Amino acid sequence: MSCEDPVIIVALDFPDASRALDLARRLDPAQCRVKVGLELFCAEGPAVVRALGGLGLEVFLDLKFHDIPNTVARACARAADLGVWMVNVHALGGPRMLEAARRAIPSGGTRLVGVTILTSHGPEEMAALGLGESGARVRGLSGMCREAGLDGVVCSPQEASGLQDLRGADFVLVTPGIRPEGSAPDDQRRTQTIAQALASGADYLVVGRPVTQAPDPAAALAACLAEVRAAGRGAVLGNGQRGRL
Ligand code: C5P
Repeated sequence: MSCEDPVIIVALDFPDASRALDLARRLDPAQCRVKVGLELFCAEGPAVVRALGGLGLEVFLDLKFHDIPNTVARACARAADLGVWMVNVHALGGPRMLEAARRAIPSGGTRLVGVTILTSHGPEEMAALGLGESGARVRGLSGMCREAGLDGVVCSPQEASGLQDLRGADFVLVTPGIRPEGSAPDDQRRTQTIAQALASGADYLVVGRPVTQAPDPAAALAACLAEVRAAGRGAVLGNGQRGRL
């Protein structure tokens, strides 16, 4: 038996396809998904997304669209054409942009989620941007995303517990800002461990540098998967028994 809805999304933030695919080939699609962000997409474009799909991995295309409604809608349609599992737009693009994105990606196919407030923003950035307190702002933006019919939001795990009334099978919480106990926050500010994020009610956890920059990425990912299992989510090794992560 394998995990059918993997919790961990590995952020393949690499400068080229060769390094991304090196790690990807060691991943078990039953245990994790992958995320293609700005760096890898700028370097390699849609080809790397297709290559990852060819490995059987489900891809979260994290390009965080934020533009006028027409432009975002058309970009969303092209992203969905790639057959990815999930795409995102910035909730700060506002209701009309979110609704246009939703119309471009009908429910039931590629999942469309809204980025609320970047997990790298701390109180200073929030003040400098005039966005107030992050918890309240994330909640407001999450409500806006739900209203526009999106499939969920990207938020900090710190905010997940306060969004449980919005959460459901049709509205998921995706949380970057995951840091194992004692590891460096890097540029992230609103972080939690895997166990904390799951206890807070996050559905999917994005993990990047703690895995990709680890001396042994495979071991680091195995530790993450073990933490997910220990929290009673994801469960069983399944295909991992074939020697893949
Ligand atoms: O390396 P790290 O675990 O911090 O990577 C987090 C990943 O999640 C990065 O690829 C980053 O672009 C992405 N992300 C984020 N905060 C958001 C949305 C996406 O950190 N709000």
